[in-house]
Amino acid sequence: MDLYLKGKTAVVTGASQGMGRAIAKELAMEGVKVLATARKEDLLNSLKEEIAAAGGVAPLTFVQDFVAADGPQKIAAAALSGLGQVDILINNAGRSRPLEIIGAEEEWAAAMTLDFDRHRQLTQQLLPHFIARKQGAILNISSTYELREVNASAVAKASIVVWSKQLSMQLGQHGIRINCLQPGLIDTDNIRPFFPGNERREFAGREIALGDFGEPQDIANMAVFLVSPRAQYITGAVAVVDGGMRRYPF
Ligand SMILES: NC(=O)c1ccc[n+]([C@@H]2O[C@H](COP(=O)([O-])OP(=O)(O)OC[C@H]3O[C@@H](n4cnc5c(N)ncnc54)[C@H](OP(=O)(O)O)[C@@H]3O)[C@@H](O)[C@H]2O)c1
Repeated sequence: MDLYLKGKTAVVTGASQGMGRAIAKELAMEGVKVLATARKEDLLNSLKEEIAAAGGVAPLTFVQDFVAADGPQKIAAAALSGLGQVDILINNAGRSRPLEIIGAEEEWAAAMTLDFDRHRQLTQQLLPHFIARKQGAILNISSTYELREVNASAVAKASIVVWSKQLSMQLGQHGIRINCLQPGLIDTDNIRPFFPGNERREFAGREIALGDFGEPQDIANMAVFLVSPRAQYITGAVAVVDGGMRRYPF
């Protein structure tokens, strides 16, 4: 199926590894010029080589700490000058942050900054551009909400879902769509340390209908569809890609 993405441009945060890397590569393979941003320059360079070897559109890379106060502004400026115009924004950077029952105040603040505020701010940097062009597709990678322990990142991601839903109502009239993609457990560096030894197999056997963690490619497959013109009637939605881990149907 042609996703009609050829010739479009995209910004992907957290593109050095895991799901962001898979999404950046899949977009490039669909003919999208990507600005891939993260801190680890060596991984961004290897992504560029990997995409070239696979025959995708060569991405631009931009090394930036997203947590820096001017991170969103710098990423938006680099995208607009490097790509000329931006059609797609993938808000993906983040990290799981399990806490004790109370948790340090700094950890809460750090999670809200990385996993909510910076994504909101980057989106806000690009919204005037999207509105002026009367088009844009925004995808926020959120989180699972059925954890049995406190995780500050998942709380921040829940904020993204609410904000995104609110925004969708006001952006529709400008031709802009905004959605969330809720992963279950995906095999990346972000979560691997939390399931050592046999724990992954035991957890997946007990909690995941399809019996194992997902792969970053599973997320990339849904992500490219959601930001493509094929998804033109989808906004304000949360798409779940979790192998059936989520317990509640609605
Ligand atoms: N894996 C899962 O099961 C799972 C489940 C629910 C939600 N998520 C969410 O999905 C997203 C992707 O996670 P992942 O599992 O793919 O994790 P990952 O493999 O650890 O990748 C995280 C990405 O975020 C970037 N990042 C983190 N802190 C950053 C900072 N300060 N500045 C710039 N970039 C930063 C990292 O780049 P650098 O280190 O190079 O900067 C990296 O590219 C995250 O938002 C995560 O919370 C993941």
